[in-house]
Amino acid sequence: GFSWKLPDHPKLPKDKTVALIVLDGWGEADPDRYNCIHVAETPTMDSLKKGAPERWRLIRAHGKAVGLPTEDDMGNSEVGHNALGAGRIYAQGAKLVDLALASGKIYDGEGFKYIKQSFETGTLHLIGLLSDGGVHSRIDQLQLLLKGASENGAKRIRVHILTDGRDVLDGSSVGFVETLENDLAKLHESGVDAQIASGGGRMYVTMDRYENDWEVVKRGWDAQVLGEAPYKFKSAVEAVKKLREETKASDQYLPPFVIVDDSGKSVGPIVDGDAVVTFNFRADRMVMIAKALEYEDFDKFDRVRVPKIRYAGMLQYDGELKLPSHYLVSPPEIERTSGEYLVHNGVRTFACSETVKFGHVTFFWNGNRSGYFNPEMEEYVEIPSDSGITFNVKPKMKAIEIAEKARDAILSRKFHQVRVNLPNSDMVGHTGDIEATVVACKAADDAVKIILDAIEQVGGIYVVTADHGNAEDMVKRNKSGQPLLDKNGKIQILTSHTLQPVPIAIGGPGLAPGVRFRKDVPDGGLANVSATVINLHGYEAPSDYETTLIEVVDN
Ligand code: 3PG
Ligand code: CO
Repeated sequence: GFSWKLPDHPKLPKDKTVALIVLDGWGEADPDRYNCIHVAETPTMDSLKKGAPERWRLIRAHGKAVGLPTEDDMGNSEVGHNALGAGRIYAQGAKLVDLALASGKIYDGEGFKYIKQSFETGTLHLIGLLSDGGVHSRIDQLQLLLKGASENGAKRIRVHILTDGRDVLDGSSVGFVETLENDLAKLHESGVDAQIASGGGRMYVTMDRYENDWEVVKRGWDAQVLGEAPYKFKSAVEAVKKLREETKASDQYLPPFVIVDDSGKSVGPIVDGDAVVTFNFRADRMVMIAKALEYEDFDKFDRVRVPKIRYAGMLQYDGELKLPSHYLVSPPEIERTSGEYLVHNGVRTFACSETVKFGHVTFFWNGNRSGYFNPEMEEYVEIPSDSGITFNVKPKMKAIEIAEKARDAILSRKFHQVRVNLPNSDMVGHTGDIEATVVACKAADDAVKIILDAIEQVGGIYVVTADHGNAEDMVKRNKSGQPLLDKNGKIQILTSHTLQPVPIAIGGPGLAPGVRFRKDVPDGGLANVSATVINLHGYEAPSDYETTLIEVVDN
């Protein structure tokens, strides 16, 4: 029968302290001025790369290696941390939704049948991120859902858009809104009363995560549910264009707006009897709005009016909380993650990041599961992030605080695994501020040094890697790799992640001398890290895990 007990590794000892450092958004790319990791002073990461060729390599962090539909899909933190923690590659939300839409099964599922009961007399509201970024949502999935919902009886549809500019180029929101308006106009011709009802930038409206700033969700609630916002427009295209021009806000930070009719009344507040779908598949930035839409007891902000609705998520965003209780597509069932195995085998774990990435090293790492497997074996520490700022203003973020917590955990000798996420290169990279991103990369490097020094003191082992690329390439390029110029001859800043591989380095005084990276896993990716780390704790990995990256040669 099944057992949680892992076999002993034939050659590697137990009880070493292993520091597991994930640099968020730290890929490997050719050096040039738009490679902020190259430009920044990063002596610690440089020395890992130059130091021991058998203990530094690159691994894949995008596309199929992390369960995304195609090789054109850049990596992201959700799928990256899932793979790092689970040791296997799961078809991820993006792919699962594609399949359910293509087969039409989405319309036979419990979630769709549930919301469909509102179609006769109520409005269907679709809330989500409008872009083709493929990290949280995809516009082509929204288009299919609009078509399918109207074919299945939805007569009145309102779309509440969140503009992107973070997983896609800033300014691209205008085109996406035009595309959507076009589709809705066609639906209109076919007799469906369909239009955009509200909007706002994803980082300022609705899509906060890990409870960093409930004001963000409240701004969305006011526009989407109450139909109230500081800006009112007749059309969404006009809204996005004008707000970009007049408020100078980028797509990510557009203020909330509502669309109003000729009498100035908002066209799509959410009212009793309506159906609501949040069409993002990714969980982290949907959990908070899902709580606001679903929970009867709710004290995070004053909802003013709580409509009686039928609500479904594109996916269930939190399996442990069963949130939301209705959903259109079942999420990947990520089970038997490395974290769960380790607690069953006596490995004590400490995990830490600051708020904006805290769930990455806990929730995503543990297969989209909240909380501890065993609180006696684990300690998770969240350092509060600065809220209400864009991180280019404070690019050092809480890197040093995270590193110091990790250092203290290592020196306490209470833990076998000390795991952190250092957010800087990703969070600042997403702002598109190149100078600030350089500062961010240095701060992350400084933090790595603090942790490696502690590992040195206790005779431990380190594993330093990343979840996907970001700061190593900050410009949009043509096929031959040259910066692409827009019609004004200007470079286009790349705020998004990349398709680049990421480094992994192992070392430390506790690493057995014969340990080195195998040569026979050239396509190794993030999912191979779990087995590697389990080995470094002195165990063999479960047999269905992606293979380990290391071997132990006798010397
Ligand atoms: C975000 O949610 O901030 C971006 O869409 C993706 O960033 P992450 O995958 O690094 O969290
Ligand atoms: Co990111």
